[in-house]
Amino acid sequence: MPHILFEKNDLIRVPSIKNDIEFDFIAKSYNFTQKERKTEYRVAVKNQNKEFMLSLKPKDENFMIKADKVTRISPVALIKGALNAYVELNNAKVLFSNTNNLIVKEDTVHEYLKDINYFVNDFKTNKEIQIEIGFGSGRHLLHQAKTNPDIQFIGLEIHYPSIEQLLKQLELQNITNVLVVNYDARLFMEFIESNKVGKIFVHFPVPWDKKPHRRIYSDEFVNEALRVLKIGGTLELRTDSRKYFDFSTEVLTKLPKGRITIDINKDLAVSSKYEDRWKKQGKNIYDVTLESWNEDEKIDLNVDFSFEFKIDFSKILTSIPTKSIIEKNYFVHVEELYIIENMENSGLIKVTMGNFDRPVTKYLLVKDGFISYYQGNPLPTSSNINAHKKLKEILSK
Ligand SMILES: C[S@@+](CC[C@H](N)C(=O)[O-])C[C@H]1O[C@@H](n2cnc3c(N)ncnc32)[C@H](O)[C@@H]1O
Repeated sequence: MPHILFEKNDLIRVPSIKNDIEFDFIAKSYNFTQKERKTEYRVAVKNQNKEFMLSLKPKDENFMIKADKVTRISPVALIKGALNAYVELNNAKVLFSNTNNLIVKEDTVHEYLKDINYFVNDFKTNKEIQIEIGFGSGRHLLHQAKTNPDIQFIGLEIHYPSIEQLLKQLELQNITNVLVVNYDARLFMEFIESNKVGKIFVHFPVPWDKKPHRRIYSDEFVNEALRVLKIGGTLELRTDSRKYFDFSTEVLTKLPKGRITIDINKDLAVSSKYEDRWKKQGKNIYDVTLESWNEDEKIDLNVDFSFEFKIDFSKILTSIPTKSIIEKNYFVHVEELYIIENMENSGLIKVTMGNFDRPVTKYLLVKDGFISYYQGNPLPTSSNINAHKKLKEILSK
């Protein structure tokens, strides 16, 4: 990652502008946990309308400046520009810099690879949606997409090489009805409209025999799946694992909704790599299908993430909890506090919050006592909404 080491100097004045790059404020770390730590800074930058922060830390007798991990943006050129502008403004004596020769491979932009925010803010379709969870080599998804051109498929995967392989195949085979997202399937459903989905395929999920809490199937997942499925829509599990089969039928029968069908060693039109392997070994393949029978209520993703009160930041510095607050389905952990010294009643609160499996780290920017999420609100998941309510409770005390 780009960084510059320079001789220690006074901080730059803020706000200021250099090479069209705006430096808005500098926040200084506040040692609220009483652990021995050196003072460091966050420098808020705006470059070509993108806001992010730089991290400025002492390194031996010098200063090291680089991108702050939480607010990092792309393309990297914007970060490099901001680092160079900072040291220029600072008239700093540069001891080491890789900003002018470091080549960072940017992620290629793929038409069908979508960020999770796309599904929250922009995704609309009049077509029926079908979702495949953990598509792996993509054989089944490609087959479905080719044979059902009027259906909008969404493929979910967390393994990036599998995603790249599928994107390549979509291009080679000229398939245009699949959107791919690199996101945990257990949390994805929360962003999909109710009663829109015809089928959800979960083929050969990782069994997680030793860590069952990591399985795709859970009460929460099945309830969300039922909400997004239209009447007659199906959630289809195919597995070689007897344990996963038993576990999923237990989850499904416990929830008094829909109809369950069970098959053993059913042949499908296409067989995945895993399936071929298990069949060769003579293993049983189980299919458990849940059919949705109910129309579900609509959801609203326009969640209000505001803080509608003013705080006294100096009180927060001493009263904010330093330990994690852990509730059943979410948590809030205050990581760091920073003070903006040249602004009244202002600072940053760095928090990690939300779901245990997919937490989000955000800065709360406090300006003149008013709080907002720096770089925009967290995603409107139920665990983030609950964590936000908890934060409001803590900060309004
Ligand atoms: C055993 S492989 C099966 C792949 C494919 N369905 C098949 O039948 O060949 C399980 C796949 O699920 C993916 N996966 C595991 N957990 C996931 C999650 N929470 N969300 C999305 N994908 C997941 C893994 O990366 C892996 O590619």
